[in-house]
Amino acid sequence: MKTSVAGSLMLASFALGQISKRYCDASTSICYTGWTGGNGVTIGVALPDTTESGFDTVLQITSPIANGWVGFSWGGTMPYVPLTLGWVNKAANTVIYSSRMAFGLSLPQAYSSAEYTYMKGTGYNDTHWTLNCDITNTRTDTNWCSKFLCWGFYPPFSGADRKWLESAGRLLIVQNGLGITAHTIGNDGCLTSAKTVIAQRNLNHGIVLSADGKTLYASSATQVYAWDYDAATSSVGNSSRIVVSGMDSKGHVTRTLAFPPKHPHLLIVSHGSNDNFDYEAGNIKVGRSCIKAFDVKKLPMNGYDYPTGGYHLGYGLRNGVGLAFDGDGGLWEVENASDEIHRTVDGTSIDIHVDNPADELNYIGDPSKENTQWYGYPTCYTVWKPDLITDHNFTIGDQFVLTPNATFADAACKTKSVAAKLALQAHSAPLDAVFDKNFTSLYVTFHGSWNRNPSTGFKVVQVPFKKDASGFSPKSAIAQSNSTGYTDILWNPEVEHCSTTQCFRPVSIAKDRFERMYITSDSGMEGELLLLGRA
Ligand SMILES: *[C@@H]1O[C@H](CO)[C@@H](O)[C@H](O)[C@H]1NC(C)=O
Ligand SMILES: *[C@@H]1O[C@H](CO)[C@@H](O)[C@H](O)[C@H]1NC(C)=O
Ligand SMILES: *[C@@H]1O[C@H](CO)[C@@H](O)[C@H](O)[C@H]1NC(C)=O
Ligand SMILES: *[C@@H]1O[C@H](CO)[C@@H](O)[C@H](O)[C@H]1NC(C)=O
Ligand SMILES: *[C@@H]1O[C@H](CO)[C@@H](O)[C@H](O)[C@H]1NC(C)=O
Ligand SMILES: *[C@@H]1O[C@H](CO)[C@@H](O)[C@H](O)[C@H]1NC(C)=O
Ligand SMILES: *[C@@H]1O[C@H](CO)[C@@H](O)[C@H](O)[C@H]1NC(C)=O
Repeated sequence: MKTSVAGSLMLASFALGQISKRYCDASTSICYTGWTGGNGVTIGVALPDTTESGFDTVLQITSPIANGWVGFSWGGTMPYVPLTLGWVNKAANTVIYSSRMAFGLSLPQAYSSAEYTYMKGTGYNDTHWTLNCDITNTRTDTNWCSKFLCWGFYPPFSGADRKWLESAGRLLIVQNGLGITAHTIGNDGCLTSAKTVIAQRNLNHGIVLSADGKTLYASSATQVYAWDYDAATSSVGNSSRIVVSGMDSKGHVTRTLAFPPKHPHLLIVSHGSNDNFDYEAGNIKVGRSCIKAFDVKKLPMNGYDYPTGGYHLGYGLRNGVGLAFDGDGGLWEVENASDEIHRTVDGTSIDIHVDNPADELNYIGDPSKENTQWYGYPTCYTVWKPDLITDHNFTIGDQFVLTPNATFADAACKTKSVAAKLALQAHSAPLDAVFDKNFTSLYVTFHGSWNRNPSTGFKVVQVPFKKDASGFSPKSAIAQSNSTGYTDILWNPEVEHCSTTQCFRPVSIAKDRFERMYITSDSGMEGELLLLGRA
């Protein structure tokens, strides 16, 4: 929305019912459930008296001219919920609508599966503008039913490149809101051709090929799908199978997929929290903020149910988007920790969020064995900047709780929660991790911050690893995470000026046989692919 000077964006749901008011518009005789909020904006919604899907809805937005634009979200959560924007275009002498949807915690993209028709009453005068339109949903898929206005929508549009892998000299890239494309790589490492393999818009991040290269797996927020895959032509069979379902559609909606090299029948699926603080996820049975393994050789008829099926590979992992296997086949996870945290002691609350908590590198272990250990979230966090927590002398990497009390103080974390192996700068938002060929380094993408001023991340780092009698581990002790823990290998100059629309924002890494890294970036409106190799 580059044209807007002032703006207001509303996330409304019918929880607002208590303060809504019925009103009728004389020009159309339509009666609306109306809600007047901040900035003098009134939103009116008229629904037909039916429970069948596929009905029309009439939306009316009336706003003071001073608001450059107004947005209305059709559900209480950001991703996968249709959004209507309106603004005045004086040159065209009208009020414009824009249909949008965000396919993750990212900039909303144009959304064409809702059909808009302008209605009488659309226009503006000296003080106000009104947008009045009839909206028909044309979606065909019900995965995205939110509790409210359960039309479900079938997300369209090409969003940002998210994650990809290599097969038969090709890159397979899943693009959030578009589907999966295959790209041939030339001798110089550059892409020479592109082909759409699967046009399925709810695929948003997870992608993996079976070890034999014959089955392609990809994930939406709620489901993991599988297709028969022909590597020679880079095409899939006509229909997909559902391998895992029952995952959440709120909050962190990417579901990273992986097959352990030593156990190629175990599909690993990582599921993040559904909010910044997802308290329910502290219960292992809930099946969020955890990693699970599913035996695809014993796939049930209708696939696995995520919370009840498979077995755990740790829980209390807030949002472990990056997964990597070391030389012994052990699973490692990088984790995006909470925002907006405060430390509250004896009723006094201190904002410590700028440099706490640390994002984490965790060791999960042998993926063929169930792991029901708790990794701390949403109670135990890792210290990044000890100086900000003045009531206690912490060291980097120590665990702490936000509000110590008689039954659960910082010390309880030591006995109850598995500590991270390395602490990463707070708000780095690590999203992928990959070992080098000889397992002496782990490369990690730091997507970059939004909850820190100045911003941080927007880079790729190298974590030196060692192997000794107790197996693989970072070379650095966790207490030295900030000095010897990792070094930058690809970064943006002046990171303090980076934002969601500025700078490259690395997401995922895939290596080719020359150890070159293809790195996706999903900054702003466009996706990019970078190639990084050693001279
Ligand atoms: C301008 O439009 C608003 C909203 O429809 C209306 O309340 C107001 O009376 C109008 N002003 C004039 C001068 O017509
Ligand atoms: C897939 O669909 C195409 C077009 O409808 C059809 O020609 C083809 O036979 C189908 N293939 C299989 C394996 O069902
Ligand atoms: C990291 O977590 C924060 C806080 O919930 C969230 O806003 C952000 O989008 C997350 N980043 C990614 C890339 O998961
Ligand atoms: C932290 O350590 C310093 C130096 O040893 C000491 O002066 C201070 O009282 C300690 N603070 C707390 C809260 O224990
Ligand atoms: C004490 O802290 C723990 C962990 O934060 C929390 O689950 C528990 O509810 C707290 N107890 C009381 C009495 O506040
Ligand atoms: C591992 O690979 C790196 C980079 O190619 C190289 O510098 C290092 O010497 C290798 N280490 C071993 C133990 O082979
Ligand atoms: C690492 O953190 C410690 C504790 O906050 C601090 O004393 C030290 O200067 C930091 N080192 C670097 C290289 O930032």
